[in-house]
Amino acid sequence: MNLLIQGDCREELKKLKSESFVLVYSDVPFNTGKKQVLNSCSSVPSSEGTAGFGGKLYKHEVISTKSYDDSSDNFIEGFLRPVVTEARRVLAKNGTFALHVDWRLCHHARLLLDETFGEDCFVNHLIWSYNYGGRGKRCFPRKHDDILVYSKEPDGHVFNYEDIDRIPYKAPSLQKTKERAERGQIPTDVWEMTIVPTNSKERKDVRWPTQKPLKLVRRIVTAFSNKGDRVLDFCAGSGTTGVAAHELGREFTMIDNNQDAMQTMRERFDVANVQYDESCEDVEEEIVNPTEYWAKMQELMNKMSPVKEIEDDFDIPPFV
Ligand SMILES: C[S@@+](CC[C@H](N)C(=O)[O-])C[C@H]1O[C@@H](n2cnc3c(N)ncnc32)[C@H](O)[C@@H]1O
Repeated sequence: MNLLIQGDCREELKKLKSESFVLVYSDVPFNTGKKQVLNSCSSVPSSEGTAGFGGKLYKHEVISTKSYDDSSDNFIEGFLRPVVTEARRVLAKNGTFALHVDWRLCHHARLLLDETFGEDCFVNHLIWSYNYGGRGKRCFPRKHDDILVYSKEPDGHVFNYEDIDRIPYKAPSLQKTKERAERGQIPTDVWEMTIVPTNSKERKDVRWPTQKPLKLVRRIVTAFSNKGDRVLDFCAGSGTTGVAAHELGREFTMIDNNQDAMQTMRERFDVANVQYDESCEDVEEEIVNPTEYWAKMQELMNKMSPVKEIEDDFDIPPFV
């Protein structure tokens, strides 16, 4: 069952059952100190404004605004520590936590994750390099995000190496065979990927201020979870994680405290024909981790010897 929960993740996470998710991926607010805003505009003919098609003048009018507050006085202790602690609790034994941050938070988050998960549970520091947007002239442009990945248990996490989308070799001609060159390589921990292009359908259909590319989230979901597993995003925004999880045959739980985000997710899931529930009653009881469930079933079945059991339980008369 897919779940959509509106509320503060610090409270909502506490209601989720322990060890019930194989992947928790969250792109938390970066504490930029600003309100993240995205206006949708339309252009109307006007006697003043900017020149457009055929030299006519157009005025831009804001028709809707989506925003969320991205500032907190006590971000690390008041927000990040409690959610990271809960994220670890709800992770299954074969689970992975991927925390999406940027240069403002990365160093704080890395220390906190080392402390909470243990250094031996560090899996990756992924760099998403997008090279887009404004740039100042006082330093090299800061054009990457950081995704810090930790496993619940040292080396105990799911990692579907063979299923990861491949990328072209930088020097295909140096590869031993043509087939190898054509097959491409598994990406390293530096992912070169564009932001969601402003004129793309992915963007136009959703329009959330800090919407992340489906391609990026798909790669994370593919690598760190199996079909049928449950995936959680506790700062879900426009629900990119939910869409990726659904496409890849996983179930999802999306949490966000913002009404606009909730409405954006509802519309996005409805368009994609994704079924979801908004009631979180009995969440404790309902969430089952399929990977662990089947592992337990398998263990029980291995212990059973059907022939012996029949002989023990029933007094079968000998054939005559
Ligand atoms: C960076 S955005 C996530 C964007 C998302 N990855 C996407 O692709 O659309 C962070 C989200 O966290 C939400 N948020 C901020 N504080 C929260 C809190 N305390 N509890 C739940 N959600 C919160 C914001 O409303 C925002 O939608």
